[in-house]
Parts: sequence; structure tokens; C-alpha cells
Amino acid sequence: MRTNIVAGNWKMNLNFEEADDLINNIVEFIEEESLENIGVIVCPPAVYLELATDHAQDNDLYVGAQNLSNHESGAYTGEISARMLSSMAVSYCIIGHSERRKYFNEDHAMLAEKVNRALHYDIVPIFCCGELLPEREAGTHFEVVKKQLEESLFHLQVGDFANVVIAYEPVWAIGTGVNATPDQAQEMHAFIRNLVADKYGAEPAENTSILYGGSCNAKNAKELFANPDVDGGLIGGASLKSDDFIKIIQSF
Ligand code: PGA
Repeated sequence: MRTNIVAGNWKMNLNFEEADDLINNIVEFIEEESLENIGVIVCPPAVYLELATDHAQDNDLYVGAQNLSNHESGAYTGEISARMLSSMAVSYCIIGHSERRKYFNEDHAMLAEKVNRALHYDIVPIFCCGELLPEREAGTHFEVVKKQLEESLFHLQVGDFANVVIAYEPVWAIGTGVNATPDQAQEMHAFIRNLVADKYGAEPAENTSILYGGSCNAKNAKELFANPDVDGGLIGGASLKSDDFIKIIQSF
């Protein structure tokens, strides 16, 4: 059975004290509730990863990075490797976020390398895919997402693919306050699951968690998560306030 997941992508937000408060509140909630089949992940900026992994000991909170280098190690000033993350108990990493694709020119081939690096060090990639607004308007959104998966994920062997989480994030919905409708999300998630089934078979497809991201918040999460192929969310803005993030976790 696949796991439901709520992952918070903090992006480049919060100072140390704010980060500490937010994690404390989330941990308090997780320790009080016994969450069944829901994985809660926080993906803070890299400088707060150690803070997060310290808080995540002895409870069910998981920590993810927002990025990792496509290189193994060496003279890459400012970069952070999968080996480093793995040595700090970071168990997930967002890969292929549209902001990385857009502002840092990360292309399909580089993302495939990042996926490989992550898996090599037992880090679960949260692989993001999703179309731009003009692509949706032109009706090419299925093709776009298919290509993103084919070029950066579908080179994996089935055993490795079992350790991948997919996040569908239509770029027009990210940070805009305009979320995909539950029907639009379900349609794309079912399409993605079918692609996985065609490539790897029915069982891996059934077991793959596919998250929705893009203006998912405490108000719309329930409706989005109610769809059979929506297994949770990758949450940006609404993950920065513990009340909102907790409400989203409670939306299953
Ligand atoms: P948002 O961001 O929830 O602020 O739209 C989601 C994301 O970029 O992962």
C-alpha cells in the first residue's frame, strides 16, 4: 500500500528562530497524534537541516532537502552533495522543482543525474513535474509531464523506482493562489500512474505516492486529497505556518 505524504517546501524563507518554532510546533503535533499511514516531511533550507534532523529524532517526522548537487564531490563552491545529506539523516530531497528548472537552468539530463545521486545514498527523490500555463492552454500538458518523467526518471530500474515519490506541480498553480481543481489534479495523477504502470507494471504503479503541489492549503487540501490518485501534497506557502500545515495533515 502506498503512503500518504504531506511535505513542506519552505523554499528560501524563515530565520533560525522562526524555523525552530515551526519545527517545534510540528513535532509537538506529531508526538500527540498517532498518524496512520501519513508521512510528514519538512524540507527546510539547507542551513537548517541539522536543526530539523535533531528535532526529527525519535518521532515520525522526516527531513528532506530542497536540492542536491548532480556531482559526487569536489570543487563546486556552494553546492551540497547527496553523500553529505545522507550522513545527516536527511531521507528525502526535492528534485526538479520548477523554480530550479527556471532560475537555475536544470534540465532533464541534470535532473536524471540528481535522481541517481540521491538514490545511491538512500535518499528518496521527491521528483517534481508539471506544465507551464501556455502548455496547459495549448493542451500539451500530458505530453510535457510525460517527457519530464521519461527523461529524468524512467531510466531507473524497477527496484530503484520503488524509492521515488512523484509530485505533480502545475507551474501556473505554484504560489499563485490558483490551485488545480480536484478534477484536473486527479486527471493528471491518474495519467502519471498509468505511465508508471506501462513502464514498470501495475504493482509499482499502485505503490507510488503521487503528491499534488501548487497553492494547496488548509482550505482546499481535503478536496484535493479525496481523489483516488492524489496521495498528499507538496506544500509551499502554507507550510510556513504550523496551524495551516497541521490542518493540511489532518485533511486525509
Ligand atoms: P505553493 O508552492 O504551495 O506556495 O504554491 C508549492 C511548491 O512550490 O512546492
